[in-house]
Amino acid sequence: MSSQIDHLLDESRRFAPSAEFAAEAIATKELYHRAQADRVGFWADEARELLTWSKPFTEALDWSNPPFATWFADGELNVAYNCLDRHVEAGNGDRVALLWEGEPGDSRRITYAELTEEVKRVANVLTDLGVGAGDRVAIYLPMIPEAVTAMLAVVRVGAIHSVVFGGFSADSLRARIDDAGAKLVITADGGYRKGKVSALKPAVDMALGDRNGSGVQETVEHVLVVKRGGNDVEWTEGRDLWWHDVVPQASAEHEASGFPAENPLFILYTSGTTGKPKGILHTSGGYLTQTAFTHKNVFDLHPETDVYWCTADIGWITGHSYVVYGPLANGATQVLYEGTPDTPHPGRWWEVVEKYGVTILYTAPTAIRSFMKIGRSVPKKFDLSSLRLLGSVGEPINPEAWIWYRKVIGDDRTPVVDTWWQTETGAIMISALPGITETKPGSAQVALPGIAVDVVDDAGVHVGNGNGGLLVITEPWPSMLRGIWGDPDRYVETYWEKFADKGGYYFAGDGARLDDDGDVWLMGRVDDVMNVSGHRLSTAEIESALVAHEATAEAAVVGASDETTGQAVVAFVIIKESYLSQHTPEGLATHLRVWVGEQIGPIARPRDVYIVGELPKTRSGKIMRRLLRDVAEGREVGDTTTLADTMVMSVISAQVK
Ligand code: WTA
Repeated sequence: MSSQIDHLLDESRRFAPSAEFAAEAIATKELYHRAQADRVGFWADEARELLTWSKPFTEALDWSNPPFATWFADGELNVAYNCLDRHVEAGNGDRVALLWEGEPGDSRRITYAELTEEVKRVANVLTDLGVGAGDRVAIYLPMIPEAVTAMLAVVRVGAIHSVVFGGFSADSLRARIDDAGAKLVITADGGYRKGKVSALKPAVDMALGDRNGSGVQETVEHVLVVKRGGNDVEWTEGRDLWWHDVVPQASAEHEASGFPAENPLFILYTSGTTGKPKGILHTSGGYLTQTAFTHKNVFDLHPETDVYWCTADIGWITGHSYVVYGPLANGATQVLYEGTPDTPHPGRWWEVVEKYGVTILYTAPTAIRSFMKIGRSVPKKFDLSSLRLLGSVGEPINPEAWIWYRKVIGDDRTPVVDTWWQTETGAIMISALPGITETKPGSAQVALPGIAVDVVDDAGVHVGNGNGGLLVITEPWPSMLRGIWGDPDRYVETYWEKFADKGGYYFAGDGARLDDDGDVWLMGRVDDVMNVSGHRLSTAEIESALVAHEATAEAAVVGASDETTGQAVVAFVIIKESYLSQHTPEGLATHLRVWVGEQIGPIARPRDVYIVGELPKTRSGKIMRRLLRDVAEGREVGDTTTLADTMVMSVISAQVK
């Protein structure tokens, strides 16, 4: 592969852990040594140390029938007990579990004792409604404490939750309810978003409404509704129940029974290459072990003193693993925030950091880049000195955003950990360990202790340092998905068939490169890799070059088919306000084409650079390059229903013309 496209790997800035941080760090090098010596034994030790088992397991991993793994299968535990009761029993009932901040500024502070009691009441309500082990419950809630309570109550009785992001439409909700055959839906009248109440209950009513001719038998028996928005809602007598009518009346006594470690814990739908979302299935013991382990070591959690804040919505895997299960299993105190980052003002997040003295912040590159776009003057108005560790997740973080995060938000003092993982992996797989790893802006770096990854070519052969290829996970891991709900064949095909002859390589769908130190650089989904005149180019790499230009606020790159070169690079760029007023779009576009050519090499120079006002993003903040490719290839724009703002594509199409 040509050296011209090694731009990203030329990044030479390095940040060694400070002596102070290293002295107090939770993670130790010894973790790597132990895992190296006995990987499965390492996870068994962590499972025993981090969790409380009602029946100890005797076997850690069973991989006799790949790709179907079981971990700790003859052990039993109750996941909710591990997240709640045991902290109270250990004398930490008064510790705050949730520091909840509503978007309008109302707040609640909930201790472990209080959260445990509430979960017990809801568990009793669920039992009264006939929800028990193995039943599915759909949860469609805003970011309110009841969302956490509902999830934990469901798993406490051995049932399986399927959380559906509150921004999804009635149709998406219906598809998910039907696929899982949910017996109960837990929702709210509405929640606050961008300064207004955004209704939720009507979508549930629609999803459960007229099914004539759909051929689907209704599985939902009840809808449990939390009052949050205060908006008017329709009511179906006999089916709908107000949370505030039934929960306070329920008994606060509830004994948590142990369930087998492989008891399904939740289903979470994620989009794949086909139209139908995949219901990713996770189970209990292995998932909780790895989420607790990673939350403790990657975020250097000191539960007595830290105030942790993960900004993800519970509707995504990050919200499951790093708002609910990891932090609560570890007895952390955390902020839960209901609203959007810029309501009622652009400094809202930083105000929350200051108000609660947040010490650990975990967020996504897209958020960081939006803040970069507004400029440092906004965060600088707030006291962010409590922060001591910053995390990133969800997409490759370009070095400039990484540096900005560290310098502007972290005062050039805090370690930044870039964490690679997926809905399917359940927990973090590749990340620096703070206090140990010398960090490199833009690289997720190294597999965590007990995790085995590689970068291989199409034949599954290790590419060697300095080369690019496909990211694979070469050994089973505790929090791995156990399947796709109702579709075992799709599970095998999607993740394991590509390297079937390797006897169990998990194909992640991400491109990656190894630098000269053997550190991993994620290059974006392989479906985002372009082939221009026989050269492989990563969208992430060119985007990084574009964003490295001082005029650029944000950029997305796609490969559009081209008669001569196979594919051509097409860039969509948002320019900073101050530059827009001083330059013409044509001038900027030409300048950026040349710039990318200079940064990476002529091969990477975009055929077209379109200056646009916005980029199409999903509600979780991922850029939908598929739609931009449609525009770049002059096609009619495809399905836009999963966009946060479905109008954005018509605006972009107009700007491109
Ligand atoms: C991407 C989110 C680069 C990757 C936890 C993966 C990343 C997909 C990173 C999974 C990262 C996630 N660097 N890319 N640190 N983290 N990704 O299922 O392409 O929403 O395959 O899980 O996000 O997205 P998902």
